Amino acid sequence: MSKKEYIKPFIKKQTAGNMNKFGSFYQKNYRDEIAGAKIDAIVEKCGSPVFVIDEKAIREKYREVYRDFSSRYPKVQFSWSYKTNYLDAICAVYHQEGSIAEVVSEFEYQKARRLGVPGNKIIFNGPFKPEEALKVAFEEGAIVNLDNFDEIFKAERVAKEMGQIVDVGIRLNMDTGVYPQWSRFGFNYENRNAYDAAKRIHKSEWLNLTGLHSHIGTFMLEPKAYAAQVKVMIDFMRIVEREFDMTIESLDFGGGFPSRNKLKGTYLPPEVSVPPLSDFIAAISNTLLSELSPDEYPTVYMETGRGLIDEAGYLVTTVDAIKRLPSGLKSYIIDAGVNYLYTSTWYNYKVEVDRPIEGSYENCIVYGPLCMNIDVVLENASLPPLSRGTRLILSPMAAYNVTQWMQFIRYRPAVAMIMDNGDIEIIRRAENLEDVVGPERLPEKLKKFEL
Ligand SMILES: Cc1ncc(COP(=O)(O)O)c(C=O)c1O
Repeated sequence: MSKKEYIKPFIKKQTAGNMNKFGSFYQKNYRDEIAGAKIDAIVEKCGSPVFVIDEKAIREKYREVYRDFSSRYPKVQFSWSYKTNYLDAICAVYHQEGSIAEVVSEFEYQKARRLGVPGNKIIFNGPFKPEEALKVAFEEGAIVNLDNFDEIFKAERVAKEMGQIVDVGIRLNMDTGVYPQWSRFGFNYENRNAYDAAKRIHKSEWLNLTGLHSHIGTFMLEPKAYAAQVKVMIDFMRIVEREFDMTIESLDFGGGFPSRNKLKGTYLPPEVSVPPLSDFIAAISNTLLSELSPDEYPTVYMETGRGLIDEAGYLVTTVDAIKRLPSGLKSYIIDAGVNYLYTSTWYNYKVEVDRPIEGSYENCIVYGPLCMNIDVVLENASLPPLSRGTRLILSPMAAYNVTQWMQFIRYRPAVAMIMDNGDIEIIRRAENLEDVVGPERLPEKLKKFEL
């Protein structure tokens, strides 16, 4: 019989779960699989930590949301917001479902082209587009939305050099009743900045305004804001068509739909505090249908990101050490830190354990493995007593982590996709030393030292 581990005695206040006056949802208190693949098998193949993406969940959500939208407003085209998660396998799933690409840099543009997306199926947004990138986008027929007057002048120069009149869109920002207003991108509607931009394009020999774009924010919780946005965009479309005799062929309402992640500072669970995506779609499509007659329906682009994918992703991580702080608070050190979890700044992730665990729940703090004080993954977790080697499954995880993660102190881990037939595929392998030092160059005179 093995000797029992010695634990120094201490007095612990018992907390019985997280009771509140709204009651709670039934949850199985552990998860030993993701999309039918056993956690042990995933870790055996990909290591720990590992991001895990559920292919079937991506497709099902896409189909549900697209069906909901297109059955209300037929001329809709979804475009996958690359910055949300631009791994090839993820983008390919969306492209197979019929989504085009939305990019905000020449790097993302090149990534989409390399994957096989034709230039004219790419929406090119963002406040900074180098001339060379604009030239390629115009040559390949991309949908380019301009952000500011300097960019209008830049686009004009490029078109002139090409000797070709090019179609462009402009990004608008406006008051949608949600504050603080996102006003740093695009041209403002209320102060007539947008009007002046349209006028300037109208005067240009080289540019033709064919599209209006706006993206009012991210993790939006108010469907009515989209109704306000659609109304402004339609009003502005009418002004442009009437006063400048240009035909607006498309309206792009951006993205911004929330996921079922729990924002820090919110009391209620996301199931209660986050409106369903169908409320946002209803707000947009009802406004379109009430403001427009069928003969003038423009193509509507939706730049879907977080709301469509987040719940399809998990991070599997392993408890490496257990330690009680001088305050009495129990702490755990896991093998994944904030270097991989950009979104930990504003989310309290859902935490599940990979096995049934006996013992009372206790408030605790979960640290990552970095030798940095800021490396706190979960500040106020309530967990049963975990032993070393227990795996924690954190979610939702598929939006913005695998693009904003950084190689800091540790190599970035693998990303796996559980395919719809249950197979585990590594869609990005774990990094190694070569990946990190590959771009480095050591000057000759620094190559030798003696210690
Ligand atoms: C122009 C544009 N479109 C779409 C998106 C996707 O937004 P979200 O992930 O909030 O849906 C973003 C993200 O900020 C964006 O900047």
